[in-house]
Amino acid sequence: MKRSILITLLVFFSFAVVKADEGMWLPSLIKERIGDMRNNGFKLTAKDLYDINSASLKDAIVHFGGGCTGELISPEGLLITNHHCGFGQIQSHSSIENDYLKDGFWAMSRDAELPNRGLTVRFLVRMDDITKKILSGVSNNMSETDRQEIIKVNSAKIIEEATKGNHFDARVEALYYGNQYFVFVYETFTDVRLVGAPPSSIGKFGGDTDNWMWPRHTGDFSLFRIYAGKDNKPAPYSKDNVPYKPKKYFSISTSGTNENDFTLVYGFPGRTQQYLHSEAVKYISDISNPHKIKLRSLRLDIQGEEMDASQEVRIKYASKNASVANAWKKWQGEAKGIIKMNTVNKKREFENRFSQWSSSKSAYSGVVDSLANIYKYMEPYSFVNDYHSEAINSNEIIRFAGSIQSAILRNSKMSPEVSARNIKELVERHFKDYHESIDKRSFKALLVQYEKNIPKDFQPEYFKSMLVKYGSTEKIVDHIFNTSAFASKESILSKIENGVSPDMFTNDSAMEFYLYFNDFFNKKIKPELDNFNTRLSLLYRSYMKGQMEYNKARSFYPDANSTLRITYGKVKGYSPSDAIYYKHYSTLEGIMEKDNPEIYDYDIPQKLRDVYKSKDYGRWEVNGTIPVCFVASNHTSGGNSGSPVLNADGNLIGINFDRVWEGTMSDIVYDPEICRNISLDIRYVLFIIDKIAGAGHLIEEMKLVQ
Ligand code: ARG
Ligand code: GLU
Repeated sequence: MKRSILITLLVFFSFAVVKADEGMWLPSLIKERIGDMRNNGFKLTAKDLYDINSASLKDAIVHFGGGCTGELISPEGLLITNHHCGFGQIQSHSSIENDYLKDGFWAMSRDAELPNRGLTVRFLVRMDDITKKILSGVSNNMSETDRQEIIKVNSAKIIEEATKGNHFDARVEALYYGNQYFVFVYETFTDVRLVGAPPSSIGKFGGDTDNWMWPRHTGDFSLFRIYAGKDNKPAPYSKDNVPYKPKKYFSISTSGTNENDFTLVYGFPGRTQQYLHSEAVKYISDISNPHKIKLRSLRLDIQGEEMDASQEVRIKYASKNASVANAWKKWQGEAKGIIKMNTVNKKREFENRFSQWSSSKSAYSGVVDSLANIYKYMEPYSFVNDYHSEAINSNEIIRFAGSIQSAILRNSKMSPEVSARNIKELVERHFKDYHESIDKRSFKALLVQYEKNIPKDFQPEYFKSMLVKYGSTEKIVDHIFNTSAFASKESILSKIENGVSPDMFTNDSAMEFYLYFNDFFNKKIKPELDNFNTRLSLLYRSYMKGQMEYNKARSFYPDANSTLRITYGKVKGYSPSDAIYYKHYSTLEGIMEKDNPEIYDYDIPQKLRDVYKSKDYGRWEVNGTIPVCFVASNHTSGGNSGSPVLNADGNLIGINFDRVWEGTMSDIVYDPEICRNISLDIRYVLFIIDKIAGAGHLIEEMKLVQ
């Protein structure tokens, strides 16, 4: 009898407790975790991390460009993030003559720092739990539409209050599937200038071959500077702006780390789905990821061939190629990890136990089955959705036609001259990085897959009649490229020379393709998906609440949603499979082992070879070499790129930039044994700035500590 109670308890606790190191915690609630953090070695207080009355570490962190994280490392607005986060900016300043991607860029004086149109950084001013206010007026028995309507009205009021009389902006975000609401108040700067970037052969060393993998040797960083008006407030770009004086910036520790040291990552993870139903996970690992991987493989092969053949094409497609390849590779690791961890079955077991527990609780009974049921009917629509974005809208000529069409509609209230100028700009931007033969070949490859894999009932009539008319998908694509004005810069510019009007392109073949496919999607697919999603969000709201009630001993954390989070763990190697153990750090020796002038991804700059040969490491030398990257068990996600990695004293020891391949399922299911985030050792950054870039003046600005 006693034994069975013990076993029950053990089983209960093994599911009840968040596994060590898992979790992305809200900064304003970090006091709930601080005891555990301090037990693990952390030396600061909750107020050091997040405080709204005086400067705290959150004031040194920005959401960079909407998708990455960056942090301040000098009293003069100097900011560090990843090379891949600044990649678009570095590329946009590059040309064949001034190839900053290839050769790197270093501003040797302030006036050489390069402004970046469209780039913004946001500081979190404060965050507040506003659940009560948001739900005031909401009752349990009202319809979902009524509920959403009240939430919308309350949100608008809260945002207005938060931004009245200041220059901030605010967003209301739902957490735990709408069981909790927070308002986030931000201060946004728009004059952010490029200060420095190593050559890609350092900043993207290992390229897409090493991406998502350990051991790693990528010097993935770039430097920017935030500029402000004379009053230190955000101001649009002006040459009179001055470097921003931050409330707080990070001190940089040069003492490095040892295995098992405490470490913390503070940044903006984008999206995780930890509480998903088993059927949704099964769709991701068994259907969605494999199909999307296949479609992207086709595109990547074509891009690779053409980029190898021409330096010009390589520059043009560098950024596009990296982003197509990045998700492509992650999906592969993710699907494998989900399967290896037996996630679907484990979730099913949990769902069964939850169902039993909840069978007598009217608020939750049947929730799990209803979720399964919705996923069953939703699956064909999700599948079409995947193909719509990966095989239809991913074709550049089609997306371009679409963007011109929306611009014309958006501009319809502007004067014809202004509208024409805006549209010309779109045209210039599109063709700056465009290579027709890549687009055309990819389009052909993708459309074959679309025809083959999408059931006829889910294909637009337009497409079926085009097939009859032209005979094959290949010929449809030929027809579009032969006749559409969107295929060449000259033809589109000559069309819009005398102004634009909303229906001037309706008979254009690329526009027609865009319009028919998107019309079909918007009328036949999207309403169904919206409908399923509304029902899902309702069910997940109670499933989430139920899980919290069922597992009272577990500390739940909300899924990532691009809001600021703290995650902590330990510097640690790992064993990805039998007989293999990976050390927790890599060094310059590994770069030299990989160095190969014949292989694009591994061809390092001659300067680095020379420094290595002469061993002129100066004060950056550690045990006869230079540390490069390290891994730790921090639970991170996309968006954490560029995040500060801190030691127990809260000093900067690294820049987060990736996860290990075997652990990429951590957006869905986290395993402390093999989920590792990859960080750039800050000492490698200092070494590169000093010895390779010769930009020691930037180090002078920083505050180095032991
Ligand atoms: N995997 C990292 C992330 O998700 C780095 C991506 C950029 N690097 C690359 N080789 N594509 O963003
Ligand atoms: N490289 C990712 C990013 O751009 C971070 C790695 C991850 O997804 O963990 O945010």
